[in-house]
Amino acid sequence: MSANRPAAVVVLAAGEGTRMKSATPKVLHELCGRSLVGHVLAAARELEPENLVVVVGHAREKVVAHLGEIDPGVRTAVQAEQNGTGHAVRMGLEELGGGVDGTVVVVCGDTPLLTGETLKSLAATHTTDGNAVTVLTAEVPDATGYGRIVRDGVSGAVTAIVEHKDADGSQRAIREINSGVFAFDGQLLADALGKVRTDNSQGEEYLTDVLGILREAGHRVGASIAGDHREIAGINNRVQLAEARRILNDRLLTQAMLAGVSIIDPASTWVDVTVTFERDAIVHPGTQLQGATHLAEGAEVGPNSRLNDTRVGAGARVDNTVANNAEVGPQANVGPFAYLRPGTRIGLKAKVGTYVETKNATIGEGTKIPHLSYVGDATIGEYSNIGAASVFVNYDGKDKHHTTIGSHCRTGSDNMFVAPVTIGDGAYTAAGSVITKDVPPGSLAVARGQQRNIEGWVARKRPGSAAAKAAEVASREPEGEA
Ligand code: UD1
Ligand code: MG
Repeated sequence: MSANRPAAVVVLAAGEGTRMKSATPKVLHELCGRSLVGHVLAAARELEPENLVVVVGHAREKVVAHLGEIDPGVRTAVQAEQNGTGHAVRMGLEELGGGVDGTVVVVCGDTPLLTGETLKSLAATHTTDGNAVTVLTAEVPDATGYGRIVRDGVSGAVTAIVEHKDADGSQRAIREINSGVFAFDGQLLADALGKVRTDNSQGEEYLTDVLGILREAGHRVGASIAGDHREIAGINNRVQLAEARRILNDRLLTQAMLAGVSIIDPASTWVDVTVTFERDAIVHPGTQLQGATHLAEGAEVGPNSRLNDTRVGAGARVDNTVANNAEVGPQANVGPFAYLRPGTRIGLKAKVGTYVETKNATIGEGTKIPHLSYVGDATIGEYSNIGAASVFVNYDGKDKHHTTIGSHCRTGSDNMFVAPVTIGDGAYTAAGSVITKDVPPGSLAVARGQQRNIEGWVARKRPGSAAAKAAEVASREPEGEA
């Protein structure tokens, strides 16, 4: 066990987040594929705490349900009324049975840019310096609204945190602020929280008052200054949410580029934290990569594509495509303008071309579906060619049925495969066929009306029309003339 491993992390997430103006609780708003609180938990998990407690209050049913989905190991403590950050931490410690031996780290649920690295360095400073409390601070260009870090004029030691609303003119000039992230000695924290009063402008129990209380009792109070003040920014409204998304997205794209991925236009490329790349992948402008999407070596995606939970094989090309839960094989070719729906598996060097929609379809190595088709609930073998404008008729209005097409087949354009139906290996189908019966291997299936030409029909039925005149001219022209 690492010496800096905290006994507990307490995440404060009981507030309403009024300024989001949303039916969704603030901490559940999304950023690069994770909720705000999901980002905080991911950073907290890097500390490997023995306990992780989230204090919930406003809309707690929704928040608790979400926490159960993303991190079932999390414990929750209810703060029924939001009486301040000190009160919230008190509720969190109660869930852990009161005082805790060892370090307790407190973070807010609305600071999604905070990294595990920063938390680790805070915990390390806290332990190394033997502090009762260590606060993470930052110098910000505009400190409005934040608690100010008051330091002793001579020693430079932190003496107190004063909330913006309670600060006087000289204190408001201070640009070093409280990030809201702390490492505490668990037992001293519990004792001090019992002494916090509510005689402040908001009538709340301030967690920040714990610093002054501990200092006055003769304990060591320390501070750790964050390298990048943007990391500790709290999200209060949707403008800040968008700013944070930009910052996080840039961070993710920078990591990818430094690892050998070409991002042609970082400004118009959006990725989730869960997306992974191999080197020499290329992402063209206007592309959104979401969920567990993975681009293998040399895969090229975009422009204007949205891939969710989709794996793109080495050297594959995906152009102007929307894909959800799909697998694109190595060197396969998708798009432009394809729609790959869940359960699509495209084999090595296969092609799913323009205006082709696929769903629950396995498409074998080297098989081509180049144009204007719907392929749903299908298995297609290797090196087959599906003619333009084909539809896999999978739905009878009640149930879905499967179509199986073998290897080395050549199906004609404008075919309807009325499932359930099977086309054997090496079979052909004629253009315009409605295939309702199985086709044996190596056969040609023709399933369409015979053509008959009724000569002279236009002259009889549409006399004097432009068509009739054109036909008359054509009938006069001797054949074989230059
Ligand atoms: C708090 C700090 C301030 C710091 C700022 C950093 C206090 C008194 N002030 O101010 O020094 O600069 O954060 O962003 O601590 N919460 C609860 N229960 C409550 C109150 C708050 O769970 O009763 C949660 C909120 O959901 C939020 C966090 O605590 O996640 C911070 O609360 P907020 O009201 O945003 O605090 P600030 O006024 O911003
Ligand atoms: Mg407040």
